[in-house]
Amino acid sequence: MVQNFDVVIIGAGGAGLRAAVEIPKEYSCAVLSKVFPPRSHTGTAQGGVCAALSNMEDDSWENHAFDTVKGSDYLGDQDSIEVMCKDAIRAIMELEHMGMPFSRNAEGKIAQRNFGGHTKPADPNDPYGKRIPVKRSCYSADRTGHVMLHTLYETCIKNQVNFFSEYFVTDLLIENGVCKGVVAMDIATSELHTFHAKAVIFATGGYGRVFRITSNAHVGTGDGFALCYKNGLPLEDMEFFQFHPTGLWKLGILVSEAARGEGGILKNKDGERFMVRYAPTVMDLAPRDMVSRAIISEIREGRGIRGSDGTDFVYLDVSHLGKEVIDDKLPEITGFARTYLGVEPTKEPIPIQPTAHYAMGGIPTNVNGEVLLNEKGDVVKGLYAAGECACVSVHGANRLGTNSLLDLVVFGRRTGKAVTDFIKTADYAPISGNEDERSKKIINDIFNKNGNEKVVDIRTELQDTMMNDCGVFRNEADLKRMVEKVKELKERAKNISIQDKGKVFNTDLIEAIELDNLLETAEATVNSAYARQESRGAHTREDFPKRDDENWMKHTFAFKDENGGAPILKYKPVVVTRFKPMERKY
Ligand code: FUM
Repeated sequence: MVQNFDVVIIGAGGAGLRAAVEIPKEYSCAVLSKVFPPRSHTGTAQGGVCAALSNMEDDSWENHAFDTVKGSDYLGDQDSIEVMCKDAIRAIMELEHMGMPFSRNAEGKIAQRNFGGHTKPADPNDPYGKRIPVKRSCYSADRTGHVMLHTLYETCIKNQVNFFSEYFVTDLLIENGVCKGVVAMDIATSELHTFHAKAVIFATGGYGRVFRITSNAHVGTGDGFALCYKNGLPLEDMEFFQFHPTGLWKLGILVSEAARGEGGILKNKDGERFMVRYAPTVMDLAPRDMVSRAIISEIREGRGIRGSDGTDFVYLDVSHLGKEVIDDKLPEITGFARTYLGVEPTKEPIPIQPTAHYAMGGIPTNVNGEVLLNEKGDVVKGLYAAGECACVSVHGANRLGTNSLLDLVVFGRRTGKAVTDFIKTADYAPISGNEDERSKKIINDIFNKNGNEKVVDIRTELQDTMMNDCGVFRNEADLKRMVEKVKELKERAKNISIQDKGKVFNTDLIEAIELDNLLETAEATVNSAYARQESRGAHTREDFPKRDDENWMKHTFAFKDENGGAPILKYKPVVVTRFKPMERKY
């Protein structure tokens, strides 16, 4: 079946919905989502969305931009960062006017809290001297993403956006640098639909499910990344994957950094506030890459706590904050600790460990969301991306907490605007009507496979090995082994078989396709990481412990090798405007 829409948006998280809100009603717009839209992963974002509103203390967008550049370990493109930090204030006001229920301060203004790496100069006359934490993150208790997602969804409903819920995209239609639409499967029936579009926006979220311990929802399987990569488009900076320091031990469920923003403290087995040794100025409010490394170092050096299953953790203590603050500002995460670990956070510390959280890299775009065809900056006509699947790049080598919800709304809106301008004059690129053939073949091949490999086994092995060999700390030997492991798993994936051969809600089939997507994103990630011989942000090479601006201050562009070999890596310079790279100390 072929359907025509001016705009097709893949993904109904924050970026996809914010882009949809921007498309004027006179144009037809379809949003395709693997899950019911308000179940998208944005709903799990907890701690906040930042903007220099100055509601609690003096702040400026320049402070925010400096912190974002420094937090990115100078890999973020400073022109994009300026766009995001300047627009942040308007973006928050806009969400408020849409009806987003922010928490309030004593004056009734939007409340703001501390988050890691968000600072201001201790002495306003010395902007690059000592910096102290600043309250910049606007929040709704610890369910900010949840209320943002619902606010955007309701606005889309008001604007009569067409939703295709539980549609899974199986193919991206690109020919000669022009995007013509996508093919998607209705999960309820396995029927294929061709969505013929003037413009397609990918807002498909991340790929955290490539790691065993992750805060990502089960949907985070890198579908958008993989579809671009398989269609000859590059993936940018895939070696930079953020581990959030505080995932619930064993489960990886996010325990918001807001806990530390409100005064929570990390402690080792001796009860020591160990961050004093790693980031003496901001301590527990250091950026995530540093805190995750500190936690793993404590564990490696024997100062973690050994759990009953033989794995290690450290403590996040919020008990001193008192029941009132905990119930008012941190109700969700403390509820998770009670429900999943049987821990009472008002009385005892919460066991935590770093959890794979966020892809800094992704589908390369410019500030208008146009997808780049190559490292030279040429664009694919009619194809756009926004949100976690995109790399603008505002997060560089390490994202600051609460810059991700901001990224969604700022670049979701900009992308929606750019698409609206584009479709005013664009025509539908011609199609033959047989565009679903490739998807039919993929699906039939999976149904017909009779191998003895199971999807779950390959996926689990991928997740375990990625965790060990491409995690917080990396080195040549581990990464080389991981490069080989991905090759091996890709070979083994050719010999799977699925049990369910039916057409109705066939999750076996979906998981088989998702496995392929995870393997593609893993290939780009480990090969980019293996090549980058320096430590920067979240990419920590024990064999190359220093940042090397002379050789590596550049973005990686990984292209899939059509002959099945290692990805082809090319590089693009970082955009530096007002902030000169300096040593990153906190
Ligand atoms: O810790 C958190 O609440 C996560 C926020 C984020 O990833 O931006």
